[in-house]
Amino acid sequence: MSEVHSAITAIEAFIPEYVLTNPTLSRMVDTDDQWIMSRVGIKERHILRGKGKGNSHMGAAAVEKLLQKSQTDPSEIDMLLCCTVTPDMLFPATANIICDKVGIKNAWGYDINAGCSGFVFSFSTIDAFIRSGRIKKAILVAGEKMSAIVDYKDRATCPLFGDAAVAMLIEPTTDPNVGLLDYENHVDGVGRKYLYQKAGGSCYPPTEMTVKRREHFIHQEGQQVFKYAVTNMAQVAESIMKKHHITANDVAYLIPHQANLRIIDATGQRMGLPADKVLINIERFGNTSAASIPLVLWEYENKFIKGDTLIFAAFGAGFTWGAMYYKWAY
Ligand code: UT7
Repeated sequence: MSEVHSAITAIEAFIPEYVLTNPTLSRMVDTDDQWIMSRVGIKERHILRGKGKGNSHMGAAAVEKLLQKSQTDPSEIDMLLCCTVTPDMLFPATANIICDKVGIKNAWGYDINAGCSGFVFSFSTIDAFIRSGRIKKAILVAGEKMSAIVDYKDRATCPLFGDAAVAMLIEPTTDPNVGLLDYENHVDGVGRKYLYQKAGGSCYPPTEMTVKRREHFIHQEGQQVFKYAVTNMAQVAESIMKKHHITANDVAYLIPHQANLRIIDATGQRMGLPADKVLINIERFGNTSAASIPLVLWEYENKFIKGDTLIFAAFGAGFTWGAMYYKWAY
């Protein structure tokens, strides 16, 4: 019998209603549609509005839709992980808050912070529990309310990010032709100098001064991050393809992290893939950090055929990066 591994068996999302367009942004900071489109490839992003609505508001809504779609009772779920850099609060974990909001009572779980690589790191983690035999039905929530940590006075970062949450049901399979077949993940602390949120943690707790200095917002040295992202995301995707003797012809689609269209194009080219095999939605959602790869999977779900070879490739704060060799399961 083939070994047990993980398959995504259902996927749902919550997209906030409000759309922040480039023309609106250009009235807030010194920027324009031409710069944002040519340098990054984003036209608009969705933003969660409403007092007291955090990440779990979106995550719980996505999970409710997922349970309904997959006809799953909350009592059947035995693990829920939430990957995010924008939890409702530092503790308790947003995973726990989501479970409470949707009535999942027989599960345990926690949050995973791996920057924009949150999805690949979390899916790898769930896969280990599924392979161990202890977990039969897991939910992975990839959710970000990036607008909570974006400085809308900083033109270098405010056009980049958007909000969304995606929920996936993950279950064991023994079919060798579907599911998560392999992954490769990396971290390198060199990145902590170039992409971070300085204040609010135990190193620099909130004070009047940290607020005044705008240290609770994302700080990114874009060019440095770009350099590492473009090299590492392509390298790790190539590495997993080589390991499994996968050619560009074998790949149905590459699903890359959606941070910058130029990074996405460079990754696809390095893998020898034609443009129609590289799935993109950055133009309409911006960079939704940990939610970005799941958001593409959700949007293009109907395009996939059972057994399609998909390569996921991510890069994010830390630095963190990783790639997955996945075969669509339904
Ligand atoms: O998801 C986690 C990982 N993150 C990433 O992968 C992001 C990686 N980095 C990037 O995608 C790009 O570096 C950015 C999109 C963030 C920036 O693009 P860039 O081509 O690296 O621009 P830059 O920072 O080098 O800035 C070029 C110029 C500067 O002006 P000068 O100094 O040449 O006069 C900036 O001040 O563009 C200026 N600029 C802007 N101009 C109009 C920066 N932001 C803007 C803006 N509108 N919004």
